[in-house]
Amino acid sequence: MEISKPLRIRHERTCGCPSNHINCLSAKEWLQHQIAVWEFYYEKRDIRDKKIHPAVFPIALPSKCINLFTHRGELVLDPFVGSGTTLLAAQDLDRNAVGFDLKKEYVDLSNNRLLETTKKTSNQIAICADALNIGDYFEEETVSLCITSPPYANLLNRKRKNKSIRGDLRDDEHYLQVQQYSDHPADLGTMNIKEYSLAIQDIFKGILPLLKPRGRCVINITDYWWKGKRIPAHIHVTNALQNAGYELRNTIIWDRRNIVNKAGIFGWPSNYITLSTTYEYILDFWRPG
Ligand SMILES: C[S@@+](CC[C@H](N)C(=O)[O-])C[C@H]1O[C@@H](n2cnc3c(N)ncnc32)[C@H](O)[C@@H]1O
Repeated sequence: MEISKPLRIRHERTCGCPSNHINCLSAKEWLQHQIAVWEFYYEKRDIRDKKIHPAVFPIALPSKCINLFTHRGELVLDPFVGSGTTLLAAQDLDRNAVGFDLKKEYVDLSNNRLLETTKKTSNQIAICADALNIGDYFEEETVSLCITSPPYANLLNRKRKNKSIRGDLRDDEHYLQVQQYSDHPADLGTMNIKEYSLAIQDIFKGILPLLKPRGRCVINITDYWWKGKRIPAHIHVTNALQNAGYELRNTIIWDRRNIVNKAGIFGWPSNYITLSTTYEYILDFWRPG
């Protein structure tokens, strides 16, 4: 697809659903989604090699959000697209989608992964740009869903200690490696939590007018430890999004117990540590109607 500003990409429904339905799901399928603790499994197409990309969510995560919050033919946005997971989910589900990433290597990876299927009923593309400039690429009120996992501030910007891995297994190929995305000054992964919160606020302020009224913005984030202090990143992101004009609709827990490595006896008997690798947040906002 040619990259013009704004992009020429479709955003209208191609399904025959009644206009007041918020998705294409049947009542029975809808019911299965009414639980606020979500669990996902990685599939073969998912990238699990941290040397290719250090922080990938499973295709099943954006798929669920796309099924819940859009109709076939509508437009999905991922401002921090990484390895292109959201774009693959959109391709599977006949939604048009655009993803952005600062790092060209990830953009190429995303666009190449999209070529693995011959399915051509909708369009998806990854573009190399700072998420701050996304407003240049879309007409207002055309995006139905923004779904993303931004960097977790500077969480990766230090030597990996593998604390969630037991004993001897801890000393694996990732041990003591720094797995940051880039050292580009606009990379949210280089920022401390204060700078990060302001950058998130600015980026999502720019995205708000692109969303249709009541269009959803779903953000996957986790809290983390930094120099012995707990950083409640999900609260910082919630405040930033509210300051940018979004309304919080739901807080969902991603239960990751099925995918984390076997837990050790963290801190026993002298220290209690929150087992942050066993869950993450999925924050569900919308542009008020
Ligand atoms: C957590 S990863 C996203 C992973 C993605 N969900 C996946 O499954 O592959 C966050 C991404 O944000 C990108 N990034 C960081 N700062 C950015 C910015 N200002 N604009 C666009 N992308 C940025 C990083 O290069 C990284 O690939």
